[in-house]
Amino acid sequence: MLKNDQLDQWDRENFFHPSTHLAQFARGEAPNRVIRTASGCHIEDRDGNRLLDAFAGLYCVNVGYGRQEIAEAIADQARELAYYHAYVGHGTEASITLSKMILDRAPKGMSKVYFGLGGSDANETNIKLIWYYNNILGRPEKKKIISRWRGYHGSGLMTGSLTGLELFHKKFDLPMAQVIHTDAPYYFRRPDLNMTEEQFTAHCVAELETLIEREGADTIAAFVGEPVLGTGGLVPPPAGYWDAIQEVLQKHDILLVADEVVTGFGRLGSMFGSDHYGMTPDLITIAKGLTSAYAPLSGSIVGDKMWKVLEQGTDETGPIGHGWTYSAHPIGAAAGIANLKLIDDLNLIENAGSVGAYLNEAMHDALGDHPNVGEIRGEGMLCAVEFVKDRETRTFFDAGDKVGAQIAGALAGHGVIGRAMPQGDILGFAPPFCLTRAEADEVVSKTAKAVSEILN
Ligand SMILES: Cc1ncc(COP(=O)(O)O)c(C=O)c1O
Repeated sequence: MLKNDQLDQWDRENFFHPSTHLAQFARGEAPNRVIRTASGCHIEDRDGNRLLDAFAGLYCVNVGYGRQEIAEAIADQARELAYYHAYVGHGTEASITLSKMILDRAPKGMSKVYFGLGGSDANETNIKLIWYYNNILGRPEKKKIISRWRGYHGSGLMTGSLTGLELFHKKFDLPMAQVIHTDAPYYFRRPDLNMTEEQFTAHCVAELETLIEREGADTIAAFVGEPVLGTGGLVPPPAGYWDAIQEVLQKHDILLVADEVVTGFGRLGSMFGSDHYGMTPDLITIAKGLTSAYAPLSGSIVGDKMWKVLEQGTDETGPIGHGWTYSAHPIGAAAGIANLKLIDDLNLIENAGSVGAYLNEAMHDALGDHPNVGEIRGEGMLCAVEFVKDRETRTFFDAGDKVGAQIAGALAGHGVIGRAMPQGDILGFAPPFCLTRAEADEVVSKTAKAVSEILN
């Protein structure tokens, strides 16, 4: 194909890129990369560079690129019925079938799926449903939502507020007043280095209790958390964390939302993170892995307890006043069906668990003793390497040094994509579930090379 020589210029002049330094990009000071094609775990840009994508896009292309089964399902659906809405009882074969497939896989106690387009809008839906629920129960004061510092739940108004990362708040007048944050369950960054993991869990629980006490349990509706902190640093919870947190929430009649946008459909080597950690949420947020990003689709899985109240609400006040034009879009639903079938047929969740464990072990072997590596952590097909200036004193690099970004840049130069996580010098990996051991070896050896180039 002939290369369009103006594309770079058009990109700089016309395209508003998310999460990008807008001024540097417009001036041509920040690099651009135009992706042309992809297959398996590899993407190729229009300059002919082939890269092993060890972050699966934005940890979403879970089945890998170029799956013809999903492409065909999308094309067939578009030819047969590109669109019909889901309002006032309408549906399509695809959207109804997918809701059944999701409930068949969901943790027990779940009742219905509401479909949206992305993780952010699904979490916005969740907050509205929670407020509706407490209004129907006659508790109009019980509305605040607790999330964790370093949690990531989207970048809308409410969801950007739930997100506990500074970059997503500053200059946007966020967080909104109804959102309050509690400590991140981030053992490596525990306040006292002498704490055991169990003591740290007790510390997180005590912080939560103090917050609830201060605000008043009768003003708090829900607690939102990712089973494993994702964008905040790929941080699995300390031992006993979810059991202990759930006990507090139950005591105070506070709903639990498990944001499984990253962990849903297999990333931890289990179907859901809630199963993995024994969580019993009232709502589950799903997106990314639902279609492996072949089409935009998200969902809010509503538990039995909330569903009964939602039904009661519509008996009292009429149809629920919530919906998007593209809720349950049939093309997204067709992609979801083909994707979930592929995950089953190829045993991809098992592969995510076993190759993910292999990747984490190999990363430990290669970098565990490096003087600037503070921690290597992961769960399933997630792996993070956190860099420090001094590992004995746990001194961090200055944010301005951009050590994590420099290492990610060097790694890309060697043909592997890892993600410099937005807060801290943390290099994240979340490859497609079809990653092979040979590809995991390549990720590790090239990471070690990039680390020694930047830090030795
Ligand atoms: C846990 C979690 N929730 C919600 C979102 C927001 O999803 P989206 O970017 O599709 O709006 C993300 C995105 O990375 C996420 O990781």
